[in-house]
Amino acid sequence: MGSIIKEISKMFLEFFYKKKHKIIKGSSLIPNNDESLLFTNAGMNQFKEYFLGYKKSPFSRITTIQKCIRVGGKHNDFKNVGFTKRHNTFFEMLGNFSFGDYFKKEAIFYAWELLTDSKWFNLEKKKIYITVYHTDIETYNIWNKDIGIFKENILLIKDKNNIIYNSDNFWQMGETGPCGPSTEIFYDLGDHLKGNIKNNLGNRFIEIWNIVFIQFNKNLNGELISLPMKSVDTGMGLERISSILEGVDSNYKINIFQKIIKNINNFVKTKDLENNSLKVIADHIRSSVYLAAENILPSNEKRGYILRKIIRRAINHGRILGIKKYFFYKLAKKYIRDIDDREKEFLYKKYDNIIKIIKNEEKSFNEIINSGIILLNKEIKKSKNNYLSGKQIFFLYDTFGLSPDLIEDICINKKININKKEFIKYMDIQRKQSRKKHFFEKKINLYYKNKISKFNGYKIFATYSKVLDIYLNGISRNKINLGDTGEIILDITSFYGESGGQIGDIGYLEKDKENIFQVYNTKKQGNLIIHIGKMILGSLKINDYLYSKIDISYRMMISRNHSATHLLHFVLRKMFGTYVHQKGSLVTNKYLRFDFSYNNSLELKDILNIEKKINNYIFKNIKIKTYIQKKQEIKNNNIIALFNNQYDDTVRVVDIKNVSKELCCGTHISNTQEIGLFIITKFLNIAHGIKRIHAFTHNLALEYIQKQNKNIKYISNIIRTDEENLVKNILLDKKKINILKNNIKKLEEYISSQEEQTLLENNILLNNINLVISKIYNFNPKLFSYIIKKLLKKFTKIIIILSTKWENKIFFIIKISKNISDKINAIEIIQKNLDKNVCKVNGCANIAQGKINLSKDKYYFFLSKIRSFVLNKINKLI
Ligand code: SER
Repeated sequence: MGSIIKEISKMFLEFFYKKKHKIIKGSSLIPNNDESLLFTNAGMNQFKEYFLGYKKSPFSRITTIQKCIRVGGKHNDFKNVGFTKRHNTFFEMLGNFSFGDYFKKEAIFYAWELLTDSKWFNLEKKKIYITVYHTDIETYNIWNKDIGIFKENILLIKDKNNIIYNSDNFWQMGETGPCGPSTEIFYDLGDHLKGNIKNNLGNRFIEIWNIVFIQFNKNLNGELISLPMKSVDTGMGLERISSILEGVDSNYKINIFQKIIKNINNFVKTKDLENNSLKVIADHIRSSVYLAAENILPSNEKRGYILRKIIRRAINHGRILGIKKYFFYKLAKKYIRDIDDREKEFLYKKYDNIIKIIKNEEKSFNEIINSGIILLNKEIKKSKNNYLSGKQIFFLYDTFGLSPDLIEDICINKKININKKEFIKYMDIQRKQSRKKHFFEKKINLYYKNKISKFNGYKIFATYSKVLDIYLNGISRNKINLGDTGEIILDITSFYGESGGQIGDIGYLEKDKENIFQVYNTKKQGNLIIHIGKMILGSLKINDYLYSKIDISYRMMISRNHSATHLLHFVLRKMFGTYVHQKGSLVTNKYLRFDFSYNNSLELKDILNIEKKINNYIFKNIKIKTYIQKKQEIKNNNIIALFNNQYDDTVRVVDIKNVSKELCCGTHISNTQEIGLFIITKFLNIAHGIKRIHAFTHNLALEYIQKQNKNIKYISNIIRTDEENLVKNILLDKKKINILKNNIKKLEEYISSQEEQTLLENNILLNNINLVISKIYNFNPKLFSYIIKKLLKKFTKIIIILSTKWENKIFFIIKISKNISDKINAIEIIQKNLDKNVCKVNGCANIAQGKINLSKDKYYFFLSKIRSFVLNKINKLI
């Protein structure tokens, strides 16, 4: 897939490599240690600290191809995607960067050469237009005077609303971070398209390259602090430049997108390949695949929320196209299978996981969407005058995630009018409320005081309960209606409220089949248990009776992890002594995390030992009992007491028979065998004298082991050995490599000393200066330094000129001992005797080296020319 794109990326990197840039891999889509960004949104992100001068870049010139996501945050194109020709949620950015090295002039000249030179992209010069930040006269002059772009084709871009640097030609990474004025390069696709460069680009003018002159750091207060070092950050959208070079007028018409669009069409067979829904899906499949490849799971928060939003938007558009079956994950499979070899290795490795993530989300959203459509059809049937109100649409959108477009589409087919204006009004209200929510969370204690709810869910998983209180956005209400999110307080409940390191339960509060509240989380505030969630069917009122039913499998995993935490605590104290103390713990349905005080280092053998001991307790099927005891009775009873207990004069004891007793209010399983398996996945030092252990239990532990096992098999396959001998063979290979390295070193020394001998025989002594000049046959130029070192030791005044043909290139070096380098200059010898077009040379007065591009005859001639030149120089030194 996409061989043209492959070719363009290769040319880009090659061009900048030739301009002395180090080629570096793009970074992950999740920025490393940068809380200011949700996703990598530009090539420069991974170099933020270099730009800011916090770290020194190992290379002053770098070039990359960076995968980017632009959904959410400062650079957010989500709403446009699919409906314009240019915007994509996922795209690749070609970039070159200078860290305190070249600045405006070179950056502009490089871009110009790559775009217009016939050896490279060969774009028509007269079709190129430029924008420049209005006060950046230096950049204007470079384009106009040095490059020769007509004044009419250069636009000065002003600040918006007269706010300084508030301009399209002032680039900022995010709300904070590196920023600076920019110059942008546009391409004119032709006057058959609408648009004008001055005020409305239309589809005619396309922005292809942004060159940013990074000069400031924007801090949290919005102030711009000048940076000590001036840098360059450029970015060119790979899909956009491909569209120009492929001669098409839209990103979606380039080869890679056309393939995806044809694949989608297998599910629908629309004749109209320009259909926007096809474009939305084609775009979203790429972002979904790459986000899933980063192991992001669809959820209601942060990155997971964005992935969920993208997958769901694509599925909504699938429905608009009439696709009712699963298609999105199948499309993902096809996309990965067709991928070109630039990305093959990366995506193939993650294939199973990517497909699993997308398939699960598609499945759950399909279920929701189906219920939503059933309800929409009911509403349509009930509707009077063929009309649906904005409130009705908003409800379907908010509760079932049906997109307004999909609702509109279904309504148009059934000739129903909808009130869009009213819908937008509800959307605005929701937006305002979610802003308020944050404020409400801080106030939560205030609202719930003076109430009590009872927990009975240690052994019982469903309870007949009465509604005591309902809160919507922190305000007490009598009723909660369909689609509302809120908090419900019951007199008695089986839901465990998050506390003591154990997360809260999820489940349903069901009055009957028609009135259901879904609980997303349960929290504990003082004496209250708060069920947080959404009314997904019907409504509830204060004093209603209902069943509070927890999700049992979710709870079981939590309880397994909680009992395993007690075993872990016990084993640690047994192994390392009772001075080991718990410093924190988190028990979830996925994993357990345990922090404890321990001053020595934790070795792998300790970890294996801990696992072994805990699994032995698991296999022994030991009973776990819980009971309430009087506080006084537990003294000196070898019970681990951790938290300030909530019972007045009694405490709850979790007793793993003959193993551990711990005071705890959490939920547990009733015998150790139910834990199934216990595996430590991480052990870390988190602070001085504090260690952290992460562990899995039950089927998640098994999945973890299987994954590790798969990796071992994979590695064994690579180094061609069986698993039993894997470690032995890796160590052997390592040894062999070291021996080979040593042998090579010795061989090189030997070859060098041989050459040195021959050179000494041809040594010329003139005016007390030794001249060694030679072309060595087939000699690795890396070894020049060996010979030079030895010769410098032997003679005080010496000029050494060595050259060789190695791997079809001619290399040379000139070394002059320091005491005569004021009289004879190494770099001058080259400059006076060789045209700079055929020779790349670095150096100074006492050393010059490089590569020469000459035919054999000319090379010999060059050496004899140098020889007479140097002899002549030495002669004149009397
Ligand atoms: N950072 C700039 C951009 O993203 C140039 O790379 O446009």
